[in-house]
Amino acid sequence: MFITFEGIDGCGKSTQITIFEAILKDKGISPVITLEPGGTRIGEAIRKILLDVNNTQLAPLTELFLYEADRAQHVSEVVQPALEAGKWVICDRYYDATTVYQGVVLPGREGLIEQLNMEASSHIIPEVTFLLDCPAEIGLARIEGRRRDEREKDRFDRKTLDFHTKIRYGYLALASKHRERFTIIDATLSREQVAIKIGEAIASYL
Ligand code: TYD
Repeated sequence: MFITFEGIDGCGKSTQITIFEAILKDKGISPVITLEPGGTRIGEAIRKILLDVNNTQLAPLTELFLYEADRAQHVSEVVQPALEAGKWVICDRYYDATTVYQGVVLPGREGLIEQLNMEASSHIIPEVTFLLDCPAEIGLARIEGRRRDEREKDRFDRKTLDFHTKIRYGYLALASKHRERFTIIDATLSREQVAIKIGEAIASYL
C-alpha cells in the first residue's frame, strides 16, 4: 500500500503522518515512513542544496533535476523495495509536489515535468494521496509560529503569499484531475478532526 501526503507548506502533513503512523501501528501495521526530498542518505545531501537559503542562484531547471534525482534515488532505494516486500509506505510529498511547485516555477514545461516524474518514480503511482488543504495565509502563519527566527527559515518559507496561494490552487486542480486517488482534507480543522478524517478515508483498506 502506497500513501502520499501533500499540501502547501504549513498544512500540517508531518503532524498528521505521525498520528497516522500510530493509528496503523495500533492495527498491527508497521509502515515505512519516508519523505521527499531527503528520504535517503544521498537525498539528504540533495535536500540540503535545495533548502539552503544561500542558494538564491539555483536555476529552476537545476531545482527540477535535483528533486527528480532525489526521487530516483528514493524510489529505487526505499519505496520500490518496501512495496515489493508488501509493506505500507507513507511518503511525505512525492511527484505531485513537483507537478505543482515546479509547475509554478517553470510554466510551459508541464510535459517535461510529467516525463521526469514518471522516469524518476519508475511509474510507481500512489494508491491514495491525501491533500491537506488550507488557505496559504494559515499555512504561512503556522510556519511563522514554528520558526520565529528569520535565520531558521528555508528557501521556501521566504516565498510570498501569492506563491503559496498558486501552489494551493495547483494542488486543488491536480486533485480534481486525479479523483481516483486524491482525498482532499480540510486542514483548517483541528488536528484531531483531520486525523479522524484520514482514518475514515483509509478504513476500507484496513
Ligand atoms: P518539505 O520537506 O515537505 O517541507 P515542510 O515539511 O516544511 O512542508 O518540502 C520542502 C520544500 O520542497 C517545500 O516547500 C516543497 C518543496 N518541494 C518542491 O518544490 N518540489 C518537490 O518535488 C518536492 C518533493 C518538494
